[in-house]
Amino acid sequence: MNSETITDIPLLRGPVALSHHFIRRFLHEGDRAVDATCGNGSDTLLLAELVGSSGRVWAFDIQQAAIDRSFQRLTEAGLAERVKLIRAGHETLSGHVTDNISLVVFNLGYLPGGDRSIITNPETTAKALEMSHACLKPGGILAVTIYPGHDGGERERHVVESWSAGLDARAFHVWRMGQLNVPADAPYFILIQKAA
Ligand SMILES: C[S@@+](CC[C@H](N)C(=O)[O-])C[C@H]1O[C@@H](n2cnc3c(N)ncnc32)[C@H](O)[C@@H]1O
Repeated sequence: MNSETITDIPLLRGPVALSHHFIRRFLHEGDRAVDATCGNGSDTLLLAELVGSSGRVWAFDIQQAAIDRSFQRLTEAGLAERVKLIRAGHETLSGHVTDNISLVVFNLGYLPGGDRSIITNPETTAKALEMSHACLKPGGILAVTIYPGHDGGERERHVVESWSAGLDARAFHVWRMGQLNVPADAPYFILIQKAA
């Protein structure tokens, strides 16, 4: 039991818990997955566990501190060899990952516990989303947690929502999920599934 579960019941406290709930449902042994913003490595660690020893994970961050922290956590868990950590912006994704991807997770905003002035940028986020959706396999997932509350967050929300809403409904299932009993600028979650 931890702060995310009571025995085997997931606690849906905030969008990251919801994101992990979907990730656990959709990612399987042998899959190929991407963490577009590895930060402190929590999402990367989950992806590495779920894809198993026959799977592969690519994880991006522009900050060396994030790469180092993620490497440390993966090494402690004995999962580092499943993950390629890339110190580069996710807007370079198509240079590293091409096709047959089951899941791409974005956790936007700033590094928790780090420099709050280094945040994801709406323009590069949009480029990375475009590249990510192009390499999904049928049934594959984009899981995006958005933080409208910080400086620049509202503009990023607008860019991500406009891009997501513009996807062809026959080719992608696009969902927006947010808690109703929290402030209007609280973080929330967008899930996009490529149709079969
Ligand atoms: C909210 S944090 C990610 C949290 C992380 N998923 C975790 O589990 O701890 C957002 C991260 O995005 C990174 N970032 C900002 N711009 C980026 C870019 N263009 N490409 C990749 N990462 C970026 C930041 O350095 C920061 O570490």
